[in-house]
Amino acid sequence: MAENADSLKRAAAEKALELVRDGMLLGLGSGTTMRHFTEGVGRLVAGGMRVRGVPTSRETAELAAANGIPIVTELVGDIDLAVDGADEVDRDLNLIKGRGGALFREKIVAAASRRFVVVVDESKLVKQLGAGVLPVEVLPFLWRTTADRLILLGASLTVRGGEEAPYVTDNGNLILDLTFEGGIADPQALATSLKVTIGVVEHGLFVGMTDSCIVAGADGPRMLGRSGSAG
Ligand code: A5P
Repeated sequence: MAENADSLKRAAAEKALELVRDGMLLGLGSGTTMRHFTEGVGRLVAGGMRVRGVPTSRETAELAAANGIPIVTELVGDIDLAVDGADEVDRDLNLIKGRGGALFREKIVAAASRRFVVVVDESKLVKQLGAGVLPVEVLPFLWRTTADRLILLGASLTVRGGEEAPYVTDNGNLILDLTFEGGIADPQALATSLKVTIGVVEHGLFVGMTDSCIVAGADGPRMLGRSGSAG
């Protein structure tokens, strides 16, 4: 990763650390931007702050443990604040997530949170979602049937990792990476169609879930609300 891109990710994550308060239950997202956040939470814990974390992937669970963050393995009640990265963010703060493979738990944690904050560098901002692939987690045993149905929705797709040695998620499922020519015109309609497709466990469209987005660019991090307003 270019050093500059990583320093922007770090700047976004550090801004999000300002939202953390003593006693919070935190949703800890996955990916390279979130590494900086989780490490920062570790520093807060080392400094005496009492927070607990709900990790969204095995990798984040290991990182949290290595940084001394107490982990919650069974969720009871709401998460106070969930912070996560994203692959694409549109003006309404709808997202594509899951290019790191952790979309299923990421979505559950976001949905269970009182406040969901996304941290990105400015390269993730798009006018319309679908510039890159849309990951969809599917059950292995009928994935070909699922893939056929997804193609009927207008997608072309590949099995992540290839059919010979596919990538397997933390939940034992496969990821199909979908491409939509011309992008995704109506994220909500597509999300609804994906959700009812047989064999789809979860998909990487996060529609109407984001409360605010911290975007780091050359001028420093800024907080966005929906429709591009300062959040
Ligand atoms: C993980 O499944 C993803 O949703 C990540 O949140 C997303 O890919 C962003 O990752 P980076 O922070 O590494 O760009």
